[in-house]
Amino acid sequence: MLTTLSVIKADIGSIGGHVAPSQRLETAVRDWVHERAHHLVPDYYISHTGDDIAILMVHRHGTGNREIHHLAWSAFQLGAEEARAEGLYGAGQDLLVDAFSGNVKGLGPAVAEMEFTERPNEPFLFFAADKTDPGAFNLPLYLAFADPMNTPGLLLSPNMSKGFRFVVMDVSCTTGDRIITLNAPEQLYDLAALLRDPERYVVESVWSRATGEQAAVVATSRLHNIAGKYTGKDDPVLLVRVQMNFPATGEILAPYAIGHYVAGGMRGSHHMPLMPVPLNTGISYFDGPPLVTCACFCVHQGKLTEPLDAFAHPFWDTVRTHVAEKAMEMRKQGFVGAAMVPMNELEYTGIVEKLKVLDQQFTMRPEAVAAHAG
Ligand code: F6R
Ligand code: MG
Ligand code: MG
Repeated sequence: MLTTLSVIKADIGSIGGHVAPSQRLETAVRDWVHERAHHLVPDYYISHTGDDIAILMVHRHGTGNREIHHLAWSAFQLGAEEARAEGLYGAGQDLLVDAFSGNVKGLGPAVAEMEFTERPNEPFLFFAADKTDPGAFNLPLYLAFADPMNTPGLLLSPNMSKGFRFVVMDVSCTTGDRIITLNAPEQLYDLAALLRDPERYVVESVWSRATGEQAAVVATSRLHNIAGKYTGKDDPVLLVRVQMNFPATGEILAPYAIGHYVAGGMRGSHHMPLMPVPLNTGISYFDGPPLVTCACFCVHQGKLTEPLDAFAHPFWDTVRTHVAEKAMEMRKQGFVGAAMVPMNELEYTGIVEKLKVLDQQFTMRPEAVAAHAG
């Protein structure tokens, strides 16, 4: 029997700005899922990362299942009402439409799902990031699945040595899923050429070339592509199966020690380093720094173990200090150059309007016009 992991997450309101949902809100979502899970969802895990609530579900109904998606959607709708009643900031923010149409894709919440035959032992990792977008996972996935400097398993394990297949999505395309499939290691440079632009090209999934099994899936939705305008950052989720024919847990976690710069801090409009933090951490410095959490699980016959908090380990304290320093360094240069994201990624349109007005006020010096005419 196949097992499906579905994680669906949304920002439906938070305390003190975009910091974290209230306990009351998270409890309301949990109670709603608990009362309706029954036989549909044998096990689930509900958590928050920054201001986003994620519902991770284990079930037997495959990806894109209407009832599974509806359960998450209705929990978020109920939560949005709770958030409004409580006066939380951004209540219902990620629910872009009123009516559910069978699948949450395109309706606002982010979704990552995969279906597989459970191995005798099935360890996997659930990542959630806040104040950033799906391309934030490009670098960690590239390093973990394609770079032997990060992942000795690519040299040591005969199956891993056959490499991995990356499916990359062009998230600028709004008419449908525009994808390309690239094989590592043969097409490493092609892969790198795309992944260098994480706002446009996003790793959507990774597959073992030895066995054909799926190793990873990322939620690739871009809210501004859906809504036609910015309605918040996309705050992605990622599921990764680990060990055996896949990278080890440590190989998947290691790239997060870099604290690479990602888009999405401070008003969703600045580059800041991604900080690995314990589960259920909120937001602080400059509407950031962008956060990533990781819950480690085993799933067995459709049941989850308790989560282990990967980034709560003391090792990550040093990383957090380093990332905090990187964040402060970048913020020292305020709005200038690399600190702020490019124009088309800004979460606000005010500056675009301002530039239009200023553009009309530019004049050409007469001598320059004369020289050009001559
Ligand atoms: C993401 C997030 C930010 C906000 C941004 C704008 O979770 O919360 O990207 O969307 O800080 O916030 P407003 O415009 O509501 O002040
Ligand atoms: Mg938010
Ligand atoms: Mg968020």
